[in-house]
Amino acid sequence: MRSRASLSVSVLSLLLISPALASLRPVDFAELERPVAGAVVLPVGKDGALAGVAQQIDEATNGAVTEAIRLAKFKGEAGQSLALYSVGPYAAVLLVGVGEEPRTAVDLRNFGALAAKGTAGWPMDAQVVVPDAVDVAHDAAEAALGARLGEYNFGKWAAPKPANSSPGSTLVWLAPQPAVSKMIFQREGEAVAAGVWFARDLISTPSNIKSPEWFAEQVRQQFKGVPKVTVTVLDERRIQSLGMGALYGTGQGSVRPPRLVAIEYRGGKPEEAPFAFVGKGITFDTGGISIKPSDGMWRMRTDMSGAAAAAGTVLTLAKREAPVNAVAVLALAENMPDGNAIRPGDVLTSMSGKTIEVLNTDAEGRLVLADALWWAQETYKPRLAVTIATLTGAVVRALGSDHAGVFTQDDALADRFIAAGEAAGERLWRLPVTPGTIKAIKSDIADVKNISDGGSAPGASVGAAFIMEWAKPGVPFVHIDIAGTAWDSSGRPTEPKGAVGFGVRLFDELVRR
Ligand code: BES
Ligand code: MN
Ligand code: ZN
Repeated sequence: MRSRASLSVSVLSLLLISPALASLRPVDFAELERPVAGAVVLPVGKDGALAGVAQQIDEATNGAVTEAIRLAKFKGEAGQSLALYSVGPYAAVLLVGVGEEPRTAVDLRNFGALAAKGTAGWPMDAQVVVPDAVDVAHDAAEAALGARLGEYNFGKWAAPKPANSSPGSTLVWLAPQPAVSKMIFQREGEAVAAGVWFARDLISTPSNIKSPEWFAEQVRQQFKGVPKVTVTVLDERRIQSLGMGALYGTGQGSVRPPRLVAIEYRGGKPEEAPFAFVGKGITFDTGGISIKPSDGMWRMRTDMSGAAAAAGTVLTLAKREAPVNAVAVLALAENMPDGNAIRPGDVLTSMSGKTIEVLNTDAEGRLVLADALWWAQETYKPRLAVTIATLTGAVVRALGSDHAGVFTQDDALADRFIAAGEAAGERLWRLPVTPGTIKAIKSDIADVKNISDGGSAPGASVGAAFIMEWAKPGVPFVHIDIAGTAWDSSGRPTEPKGAVGFGVRLFDELVRR
């Protein structure tokens, strides 16, 4: 039974519940000097150390702040915070631990997020003393970006309530070069936040709304009027006629057909080859005929996090007018069991001509990426091709939620990705693709098979090895498995519980370098 869902475009675009931009907390930047009254936020170093303006504020309270730090046994460790009220001339003092020096950009973002969180709902402006860290002008901008990332809230599907019209009091970042910091935040910080927020919105949306067609429409809307960006959407007929049997086959069990979306940003020289970010965009992964157990299957509404990261990255690059060329290629399909779905044992022919024996329909991410990666290389001749995907449960078991897996045969490139990840606060751990693993996916009846049956080949590496079959010789290639990092069930300062948007900050940092 197969009926085409015929949602009109206008309905499709209405359904994204995006956090109202109007409710964003206002920010400002001001000269770093001691506020005489009001609400202040102070960075506290290791063992309760106060420095500079924070120390002057303590003096203005006749040491009441120091005394509170001592009594509360506040250690100044990163992540700690403590609010004090009515201290000397100040209505409120929020202490935020920043640990030891030297402090990185990520430390500042975490500080900014905690400053925002700790002062949320305060009736007066909060004047935040930015701690000393890496770079005088950038420090306050990084803190402000941290606050933006941390205040993300997808909201709730709930009965309508009277809108909360108050955006909250202003966060004023006190910094040595406030005008420069403000400029950096508006040009770069806001761009990063926009990319991360867009990715988080896409990931958070439930899959009854989020079809491949809907996803493509959100991209069209989001990039409408963004300079130097072209969006191309290939529908299922085009996908089929281009010979993308792997992408088409994966989506074949769903009444909501697949899409391939390209978002091209040309901020660099016309002749310069682009970066290509190819994202897995399974809008829901039931496993198909190799159906998943029902426990926790709801999480598979986030199985398009790679595509969301690729789209978010290009939004960030375009918004900050990065002087590079880059393209996001989104492989969008819904993996459903159905009378028309592909079966275990089927053979698909991919766009490159390479044939695939599908031994497990739940190993679908690698199928859609094979065609998308091939198409991206054929169409854009990229200087670097990256695939990003919630690809395997095996990477979750190996690395947990602190690191994504990174796979490449190029040692220098691996090092560059890992370093960019450290700087961006999106950490990577390298895993191998060995000759044994490559051999494990050879098929008896096709070129390759999509799982290694029997034996003990490492699951995350098998997925990477499979995708590498479509990487062209001469095109530097990296694969990133974000199955463990795309969704955070506990919450961190700059990643509230839920969709992380993992990949946007990493790729932005990589491109900067
Ligand atoms: N989308 C899943 C991987 C996944 C698991 C993402 C947990 C996020 C959290 C992927 O499509 C999948 O089902 N992978 C299978 C592959 C297996 C059949 C070789 C897996 O890892 O079990
Ligand atoms: Mn799957
Ligand atoms: Zn999947």
